[in-house]
Amino acid sequence: MAQPNIGLGIDIGGSGIKGAPVDLTTGEFTAERLKFATTEHSAPEQMAGVVGRIAAHFPEAADGPVGVTFPGIVQNGVIRTAANLDEAWVGTDARALFAEAAGRPVRVLNDADAAAVAEVRFGAAKDVPGVVLLTTLGTGIGTALVTDGHLVPNTEFGHLEIDGHDAETRASSAARKRDGLSYEEWVHQRLQRYYRVVEDLLWPDLIVVGGGVSRKSEKFLPLLDIRTPIVPAALLNTAGIVGAALAAAADDDPGPR
Ligand code: BGC
Repeated sequence: MAQPNIGLGIDIGGSGIKGAPVDLTTGEFTAERLKFATTEHSAPEQMAGVVGRIAAHFPEAADGPVGVTFPGIVQNGVIRTAANLDEAWVGTDARALFAEAAGRPVRVLNDADAAAVAEVRFGAAKDVPGVVLLTTLGTGIGTALVTDGHLVPNTEFGHLEIDGHDAETRASSAARKRDGLSYEEWVHQRLQRYYRVVEDLLWPDLIVVGGGVSRKSEKFLPLLDIRTPIVPAALLNTAGIVGAALAAAADDDPGPR
């Protein structure tokens, strides 16, 4: 049975696509999230099918707004980059594709941007004045820039070229695992350099660290020697789903939804 004030958030990541109904007032999930592995579903048509299955799975959110995150640039619902997903995504009108699959309007936004929307409303960036940079350390590095609570969408500071490398290929959580680095080695050989460059370019007042690895923040954040205060995301890895639902409920997406 549809319930008022419940939205649906769906988070598309490099390894999984997950969704849950979200209480838009509290940011809590109202049911257990549903998750599918992306490996065999990462082309647009397959993923749209998964979005449709998730939308059909939660009747309590049947009349509410639907938000979907994507790990790449999203402009007016169209995917512009897909660094860690099937290239067929580039140029796809994801808003139209997912709306068709879900049978109702859908908002599509960058995954780090969605996480920032949630952290601003309920988490580590709530009521923080000035410039907040959210970084997600996962398969890639996602970034979201917030100024006095307002998001500047589609920033891509995970792809800064640092020491001749695309930063995320060295400093992401996936790169740590791929190269067999301990948390200490990761900080000293990769993260330290990354965050110093970023803080020197942006001078944020606060950096918030999200992504699955933020659950283990005590293993690496205290080792970082940077001038900017840096804290773990409060919503940990639910932020994408919550932010997607919140963004869909907000009326600030240009164009038809
Ligand atoms: C993409 C970003 C995304 C990040 C995290 C990067 O490779 O370019 O748009 O936010 O990965 O998924």
